[in-house]
Amino acid sequence: MGKDVIIALDFENRAKTMAFLDQFTEEKPFVKIGMELFYAEGPQIVRDIKARGHKIFLDLKLHDIPNTVKKAMAVLSGLDVDMTNLHAAGTKAMMEAALEGLTRPDGTRPMLIAVTQLTSTSQERMESDLLIHEPLDKVVMHYAKCAAESGLAGIVCSPLEAGKVHETCGKDFVTVTPGVRFADGEVGDQVRVTTPAKAKEIGSDYIVVGRPITQAADPVVAYRRCVSEFVG
Ligand code: C5P
Repeated sequence: MGKDVIIALDFENRAKTMAFLDQFTEEKPFVKIGMELFYAEGPQIVRDIKARGHKIFLDLKLHDIPNTVKKAMAVLSGLDVDMTNLHAAGTKAMMEAALEGLTRPDGTRPMLIAVTQLTSTSQERMESDLLIHEPLDKVVMHYAKCAAESGLAGIVCSPLEAGKVHETCGKDFVTVTPGVRFADGEVGDQVRVTTPAKAKEIGSDYIVVGRPITQAADPVVAYRRCVSEFVG
């Protein structure tokens, strides 16, 4: 599995995003475009960043009836993104339909990964609001298994769970892990954090890093530090 660092482009508009990317004159980092930027600028922002030579993880977390997700995924596949995602809670039928929609006539498709339980969901909320009474880690692992059985490439999870996910779903099942901080950096609002080096040790395949790079005094230096700690 090709390990890589994905920079979360959590910017509110095109101008700020492009000003950030302009600082990278030598390398073309893999980047994540989320709901904020996509909804602000529309699909053209994806085409433009792709045209600059970046790989793209389009993080829109789809969740709807299978037919709607299938058709939406066909549109995203046409944007030529490299990775995209959905909620495993939409069921295996939805995940299988999503894969069909993503698959291009030549058989290729972007990597499809699932969100299990959001890290913002606590055990208490899951029980009171979703009426799910199993332990949270068991629910996450069950969703991971459903994603694997549906043919998905992997899941988004905490780096701390990456080892267990690989044990349960196989070493080729991809783990994409946010919640990464430098040992000497600020934690911000993330609760359980891991350094790039520790994420590598536990077995993450991709780390998603936002503020430690985007808010750094020198983002290029911070990116290179992440790559050298994580990829080596
Ligand atoms: O700035 P920071 O490194 O915390 O950014 C992490 C990125 O990963 C953000 O885009 C955030 O929305 C995303 N993410 C996360 N935790 C999850 C899922 C996604 O932090 N469980």
